[in-house]
Amino acid sequence: MKTKQMKSDAAMMVEIAGLKMKNPVMTASGTFGYGEEYADYVDLNQLGGIVVKGLSLKPRLGNPPPRIMETSGGMLNAVGLQNVGVEVFIREKLPFLRKYDVAVIANIYGESYLEYAQVAKKLSQVQGVHALEVNVSCPNVKKGGLSFGSDPKEAAEVTRRVKDETCLPVIVKLTPNVTDIASIAQAVENAGADAVSMINTLTGMSIDLQTRTPHLKNITGGLSGPAIKPVALRMVWQVAQCVSIPVIGIGGIMTAEDALEFMIAGAQAVQIGTANFINPCATIEIIDGMRSYLNDNKIKNIKDIVGTLRT
Ligand SMILES: Cc1cc2nc3c(=O)[nH]c(=O)nc-3n(C[C@H](O)[C@H](O)[C@H](O)COP(=O)(O)O)c2cc1C
Repeated sequence: MKTKQMKSDAAMMVEIAGLKMKNPVMTASGTFGYGEEYADYVDLNQLGGIVVKGLSLKPRLGNPPPRIMETSGGMLNAVGLQNVGVEVFIREKLPFLRKYDVAVIANIYGESYLEYAQVAKKLSQVQGVHALEVNVSCPNVKKGGLSFGSDPKEAAEVTRRVKDETCLPVIVKLTPNVTDIASIAQAVENAGADAVSMINTLTGMSIDLQTRTPHLKNITGGLSGPAIKPVALRMVWQVAQCVSIPVIGIGGIMTAEDALEFMIAGAQAVQIGTANFINPCATIEIIDGMRSYLNDNKIKNIKDIVGTLRT
């Protein structure tokens, strides 16, 4: 078990809404399980943060298969928020994560304001959870995510309900499936969000020509991977200019160069999702590459590149 503390590297350290991290690289929810699944490949102590699979009040089986489909430059998923439920997470998954010196961020989701509040409360009463990431943006679950994340008032209300139940930093994860993402970001900031993370997947679909049926049983799914990076980057840049809370960049980050682009666009940290499926060591390689970029360009601190886009 590699639970030894890492030597700290001051140039890479960041603090997001009170959440201290060794570096700005986190795993994205739903692509890194509960951490344990990747521990044979990645020294979890080297990560900035681990965002766990989205947690709901009760366990969920998710959508019926097929629910994953590869596309050009990305993948579609309609997993449907399958998860062990918040109580099993606390009892069976969190003890493993507590052994590591890494920020643990619990991604949460609910089908009602009350469920969001209940999940937030349970996670705030235990040791070892350092922040909450509130998924208001899942495009797969008919009764859930989309309606909360696509309406500024609903997104703000979810934020308030969660804030009322917790002293932990609250990161609200935004959906790109809206006309004006900046107005949603401003609404959650005004409701007390400590940071926003963005983007979740873009709704898409693909069709089997032989059968003329959708590849996914759910018909539509969430598109992720390199295909969405330019859209994500544009949205991060837009939002970073109109909120004063930190922005965490997500979407198609495969390399250190991708991560650095997000930081130059205004993100104070990044999350790595689909890349973990292709290369389980992607996060570590990205951290090393970012550190080399600082050294090669004689930049003292990773924070010095945030929002430095020249237009
Ligand atoms: C299989 C899969 C499952 C996901 N599950 C969740 C989830 O439970 N909660 C959430 O907020 N986002 C979830 N996401 C979205 C990712 O965290 C991320 O926002 C998105 O994939 C874009 O980043 P990427 O292009 O680096 O993968 C999931 C993505 C994938 C591919």
